[in-house]
Parts: sequence; C-alpha cells; structure tokens
Amino acid sequence: MAFLSNNSRIALILFSCLVMSFHSSASAQNYGTATYYTPPYMPSACYGFADQGVMIAAASEAIWNGGGACGQYYQVTCVSGTNAGTPYPCQGSSSVVVKIVDLCPAGSCRGTIDLSQEAFASVADTASGVINISYQQYVLQLIIHTASQTYDLFIYNTHVLFF
Ligand SMILES: *[C@@H]1O[C@H](CO)[C@@H](O)[C@H](O)[C@H]1NC(C)=O
Repeated sequence: MAFLSNNSRIALILFSCLVMSFHSSASAQNYGTATYYTPPYMPSACYGFADQGVMIAAASEAIWNGGGACGQYYQVTCVSGTNAGTPYPCQGSSSVVVKIVDLCPAGSCRGTIDLSQEAFASVADTASGVINISYQQYVLQLIIHTASQTYDLFIYNTHVLFF
C-alpha cells in the first residue's frame, strides 16, 4: 500500500510538471488539382460503412499508395482556378485539413485529390468544380515538457513516433 501511494504521489508531481503543447507541422509542399464529390460518402474504400465525418477526401493514385494513404491527413490549400474553370474560385479559409478515406480511381478521377463537397466549399466556390491546390501531409506534433526532459511526440499518419 505504501508503495502504491508513493507511486501515485510521484505520478502526481510528474503530472503537475507536464506542460503540453500542440502544433502542426507538415511535410513537403506539392501542387495539383482538387475536385469534389457529394454524399453518400459511404461505403468508402478505407472504412466501408464506418462514418468518418465530412472533412474527408478520396486520393488519386498520386497519393493513394496502395491504400497506405488511408487515415492520413492532408492540408489542402486553394491556390487558383485552373485554366478551364472559374478564374478566381478561392474563398473562405485558405486551407482545409481532410482525412483520406477513399480512392479516386484512375480513369474517372479528374484531380489529384477529390474532396468532400463540404471540404471543397470551405476553401473554394463549388461552381468552379476544379481548382489548383497546394497540398501537404498534415502532421500533429505533441511536445511534452517535464522538469528534466522534453519529449517530442509526432502523431504522423496513424503511427506515433517518440523522440
Ligand atoms: C493551374 O496550375 C497549372 C499547373 O501548375 C498552371 O499551369 C496554371 O496556369 C494554373 N492556373 C491558373 C489559373 O493559375
């Protein structure tokens, strides 16, 4: 009992020393185009009938990686119209973070990433149909400071890396 209570006291002290901070960082910037698709969003190639919300996207072969892209997050930024569509479609917030839940199959896919209608609408006028984008994989970094050490926890794809 004494051992246990000592342990919990140590845990309490340790916890009170923890300062956590989140910030996002990202991998290399890529350029491409985005289109959008409309509900129903299920079933998806990655999750079947499991609901993943609406901030989602289907990856073209450029991102898909044989299904390895499933569950990865991408930050998509509207850059401009394409030469074919509306000249100035970018509106709303400049970028959106989406989770890859599906495949945009080669042949019918018309862009690098096929955003949900909701995700597309948050960065551009849906009337344009297709936009030029920059995109990068989104990484969540959790920095844990204790009295003696700082840990960097990278929540990257679906893996957690500890440094
Ligand atoms: C869209 O991107 C393509 C490829 O980078 C570029 O050639 C084109 O000029 C861009 N369109 C506009 C309207 O900026």
